Amino acid sequence: MKIIGTKDYEHMSQAAAEIIIEKIKEKPDMVLGLATGASPLQTYRCLAQRYQEGSLSLKQVSAFNLDEYAGLPKTHEQSFYHYIKENLISQTDLQEENVHVLHGMAEDAELECKAYEERIAQLGGIDIQLLGIGLDGHIGFNEPDHIFSMTAHVSNLEEETRQANAKYFSRLEEVPKKAMTMGIGTIMQAEALLLLVSGREKAVVLAQALYGPINPQLPASIVQIHHNCTVVVDEPALQELKKAKDTCFRRYQYETF
Ligand code: GLP
Repeated sequence: MKIIGTKDYEHMSQAAAEIIIEKIKEKPDMVLGLATGASPLQTYRCLAQRYQEGSLSLKQVSAFNLDEYAGLPKTHEQSFYHYIKENLISQTDLQEENVHVLHGMAEDAELECKAYEERIAQLGGIDIQLLGIGLDGHIGFNEPDHIFSMTAHVSNLEEETRQANAKYFSRLEEVPKKAMTMGIGTIMQAEALLLLVSGREKAVVLAQALYGPINPQLPASIVQIHHNCTVVVDEPALQELKKAKDTCFRRYQYETF
């Protein structure tokens, strides 16, 4: 595990974008796992800027969205498909047909999840999976549970998660109660994980995830055993890691950007 400390959200995003750009240079047809939410937003803007400057092309890149709200059509402003369309597809040469999503309106959600796993496998797996972390330690929409889920599935959203995402909707009642998400197993199979963490409010859960026990009640803790996980953290989110580091036997590689 490598932890890259950065000054602020802007620098965190630049550092993350550099890692993705490096990979695209090395493998132009790479497969990128896309997260949504606030954490990766500026990273996508950095990629878009590079594209607009003419120094980056995502034309051959394939992408898989990490998760989606169940019951929201692709056209809904708060669907994660819409987010990726707005922030990446329309801002770069990433081809819409190369962007794979879980369809929130699928009649048979289980079948949709199964087909999603197959599509990932057909493309040879994910090269870099972007991740954010929820306040309850979720990754994707894998909420605290008594087991780590293996494959893509339908999940019930915790109240805390719905409340955290309510700011994007006009009312809490509009936030879906269910979602579809890659499983922990799907995420762990990615060649590399890139976890972005920003802000003081994420500091405690991040320290628990990286230095606490590996426990499905804190799904993000699984990244401790991924063979190639990079965590890019801004200064406020780094605070509790600094304390935990001296009281835990786990040793990670720390760098600054
Ligand atoms: C959301 C998403 C996750 C995201 C996480 C953190 O609900 N389903 O994919 O990574 O919560 O979101 P944010 O980056 O906005 O804090």
